[in-house]
Amino acid sequence: MKTILTTGSNGLLGQKITEKVLVEGRVNLVATSAGVNRYPVKEGYEYAEMDILNPEQVKAVVEKYRPDAVIHTAAMTNVDTCEADKELCHRLNVDAVGTLLSICEEKIYS
Ligand SMILES: NC(=O)c1ccc[n+]([C@@H]2O[C@H](COP(=O)([O-])OP(=O)(O)OC[C@H]3O[C@@H](n4cnc5c(N)ncnc54)[C@H](OP(=O)(O)O)[C@@H]3O)[C@@H](O)[C@H]2O)c1
Repeated sequence: MKTILTTGSNGLLGQKITEKVLVEGRVNLVATSAGVNRYPVKEGYEYAEMDILNPEQVKAVVEKYRPDAVIHTAAMTNVDTCEADKELCHRLNVDAVGTLLSICEEKIYS
């Protein structure tokens, strides 16, 4: 079975993906998010804490699980928060995506 890794698994989209994977059971899931797992069901998949602003943590998780695919849903989604802290918004919604991609290329495809 293939393994997919989700980022931002505590969020709306991340939780929907976990739900779908658990219902269908066609792939192994590694759900990741910053902090503790808030999805109510804790079995049938793996959870790893992964703050996408922490490259060392991202590297360690990607290297450990070597997923076949990554579904990236971690983001700063509140527009008012983005306006209030544009620098953090850019780091999270732009820079961290590039870092995640580079780490996946390096750790999975090398
Ligand atoms: N929901 C939709 O209908 C929809 C539709 C189309 C596209 N999208 C896109 O899909 C993405 C996710 O949307 P969403 O509705 O699921 O948003 P959301 O509910 O706000 O979820 C985003 C998740 O990212 C997590 N996160 C924030 N910073 C993080 C970090 N540094 N490391 C790891 N995780 C972090 C948040 O954690 P905390 O909960 O701990 O803050 C949150 O759980 C966004 O890019 C959005 O634009 C969503």
